[in-house]
Amino acid sequence: MVGQDFLTLRDFNKAEIEQFLWTANDLKTRIKLNGERYEPLQGKSLALIFQKRSTRTRLSSETGFALLGGKPCFLSPEDIHLGVNECILDSARVLSGFVDIILARVYAQQTLDELAAEGSIPVVSGLSDTYHPLQTLADLLTLQEHFGKLKGLKMAWVGDGNNIIHSLMMGGLPMGVDINIATPKGYECDSVVVKDAVALAEKHGTKLNFTNDPKEAVHKSDVIVTDTWVSMGQEEEAKIRLKAFDGYQVDAKMASLANPDWVFLHCLPRHPEEVSDEVFYDAKRSLVWQEAENRKWTVMSILLHLLKEHIPTTPKPNF
Ligand code: CP
Ligand code: NVA
Repeated sequence: MVGQDFLTLRDFNKAEIEQFLWTANDLKTRIKLNGERYEPLQGKSLALIFQKRSTRTRLSSETGFALLGGKPCFLSPEDIHLGVNECILDSARVLSGFVDIILARVYAQQTLDELAAEGSIPVVSGLSDTYHPLQTLADLLTLQEHFGKLKGLKMAWVGDGNNIIHSLMMGGLPMGVDINIATPKGYECDSVVVKDAVALAEKHGTKLNFTNDPKEAVHKSDVIVTDTWVSMGQEEEAKIRLKAFDGYQVDAKMASLANPDWVFLHCLPRHPEEVSDEVFYDAKRSLVWQEAENRKWTVMSILLHLLKEHIPTTPKPNF
């Protein structure tokens, strides 16, 4: 995987996704639990380009890259010409001469594709309007840690048909996770992404279902996932969206339809309208803090694999 881009999980097969998760687990065990100093990325540098705000993606990649011995360099839209005063092609070629890898958070997925096509170094998606593959890896690691496996889990998505669920389909379906998606009418997942997801579900024998009824999606699920109803860039639609999503709040009543051992995930940042305090702060059910921490171990895994060969030294988890 050295030298590859990481723009969508659609580009990676089941064995490769397992490898990413195994390495994340390996790094977490060795560095966090065993206190090992492991700096294979000494001498490497990372450019972080963010066209949108970020807490987790920025901090996890900046601190994670440094923990592996590398030098991260953060560039906000105010600091860099990308797409403003300089075309993407020129920026990509210049950055390729300065750093070893780019992680970019952008609006259009096409911007990532252009960066990857024009630069000569790996490009990692830190979220686009269409996908958020790094988030999915953290979610899968968290579920694996909690349930001890991924295969056969039933996931319910209640909310917007957005970048988060798009990537969950791309990563979850190959790993054997069945996915039930409830979105309000008019806020369904992107049809091109759905076509790919249906093909993935068929290939891997996993179930994928779409509905406009949250109760139907949550029924007998093991994990309930939601996200903001107003993603970055949609701020002007906030009023109309809040109305359209009426009845979609994940609360204890809705969750009571799930399997007895259900858990809750949310990529964060969280707003109270999409999930009640009771569910969000439920110390036993809500895995959101573990999920947020796992952003760090999973992005470290990706940055490492795209820059160097890595063979984990800890046992492979059960997927
Ligand atoms: N979940 C996530 O990507 O959070 P940030 O927007 O804070 O990076
Ligand atoms: N769907 C959200 C995710 C934030 C991490 C957004 O795109 O703003």
